[in-house]
Amino acid sequence: MSTKNVQIYHGDIIYSKSKTEFSVNPDSYLVVKEEKVEGIYPVIPEEYKEVPVTDYGRNLIIPAFSDLHIHASQFVQRGVGMDCLLFDWLNTYTFPQESNFKDPEYAKLIYDQVVQELLRHGTMHASLFTTIHYDASDYLFRAFEKHGMYGYIGKVNMDQNSPDFLCETTEDSLKETERFVYEHTGRTAGSHVKPILTPRFAPTCSHKMMEGLGKIAKKYQCGLQTHLSESREEVKFALEMFPEFESDAQIYEKYGMLEYGPSIFAHVIFPNEKDLEILKATGSMAVHCPDATVNITAGLMPAAAMWEQDINISLGSDIGGGHHAGIYHQIARTVQASKMKEFYEPEENRRLTFQEAFYLGTVGGGSCFGKVGSFEPGYQFNALVLGNLEDKGFELTPEERLEKFCYAGDDRNILERFLDGKKVVLN
Ligand code: GUN
Ligand code: FE
Repeated sequence: MSTKNVQIYHGDIIYSKSKTEFSVNPDSYLVVKEEKVEGIYPVIPEEYKEVPVTDYGRNLIIPAFSDLHIHASQFVQRGVGMDCLLFDWLNTYTFPQESNFKDPEYAKLIYDQVVQELLRHGTMHASLFTTIHYDASDYLFRAFEKHGMYGYIGKVNMDQNSPDFLCETTEDSLKETERFVYEHTGRTAGSHVKPILTPRFAPTCSHKMMEGLGKIAKKYQCGLQTHLSESREEVKFALEMFPEFESDAQIYEKYGMLEYGPSIFAHVIFPNEKDLEILKATGSMAVHCPDATVNITAGLMPAAAMWEQDINISLGSDIGGGHHAGIYHQIARTVQASKMKEFYEPEENRRLTFQEAFYLGTVGGGSCFGKVGSFEPGYQFNALVLGNLEDKGFELTPEERLEKFCYAGDDRNILERFLDGKKVVLN
């Protein structure tokens, strides 16, 4: 049997085998065959005895992360204006920053950093908002493809309730969106990057816009990402703009945007019964962004309660509402936020365990991109090697080292990165 396309990695290997449980494989061998996980073994199987082993000793080997909600255009403003609430933050910091992307050279400067920083922090799969600008969005799409990353990239739509310097006509917005979707659908063989419709949120999109986006969704079988029920003020504003609807999610459902690709809803902090019913019935993805929630919005997603209703949940950095690119920090923040939710509203909520939060940041989000986020056989070997997680005089189990990484670690603990079975070289 040929072992030409086989690699073997030794280390302490962890991934989520279910929503609540890790598969912990200390001192084990992970066999990769043609970019995919073949299996994990305590000793090397006979047929692979000739294959050289890359030995990571007691370092951890884990699946790479997925960020299901990030604004690439806001990357450099992260950590700024964090004492504002949503609408002040948008008007003061975010809209002026996003208008800079009318200059493609500026987009290049920022988006090259975004790609590097995502990889640096172990995020290999992401769903990203750009801005309303076509050329800038096209640059990010190509940069993702060039680096072999997995992504959904959305040119943003805004035709009302937006400042003059960041507002499109409905006609131009729909024309440019269709061009973006058309030009980026199936463009490159082997690409893992896809376009996605991105109405910013209901307040900034007219009925005509939503109707036009619904037609594009159908014509190109395209998915949707947007912000949903992020603050009480937002919900009120959205339903004032769309009074004929019972909920924020129903706007997208009625306009036919939840039928084709993934439907990715960021935040979902104040969903009503109708929102929850629609999310569940359409298999939509609700993205928990706990950093952003405590920075610029008020309220916490009822994550555990929604998960118990079989609504899909994943994690997002929501940079620049969030301030840190590491999904591993969002995993820790998810546990923290769920404790707050349980403390203040114990009847309907429970805290999430570390194992559950890790699942959300790997398998949960990964489910939108194909077979990524796990080490079950057949999954892509998109993986991270983590080390230097113990202080002198205090030994930790593999699970404890992973937890410590999520709480107290940073990119310096990521010793190696693999994407489609190949080592990632950072710039
Ligand atoms: N709602 C509308 N636009 C935005 C944005 O850029 N970030 C966040 N977090 N919420 C929004
Ligand atoms: Fe956001």
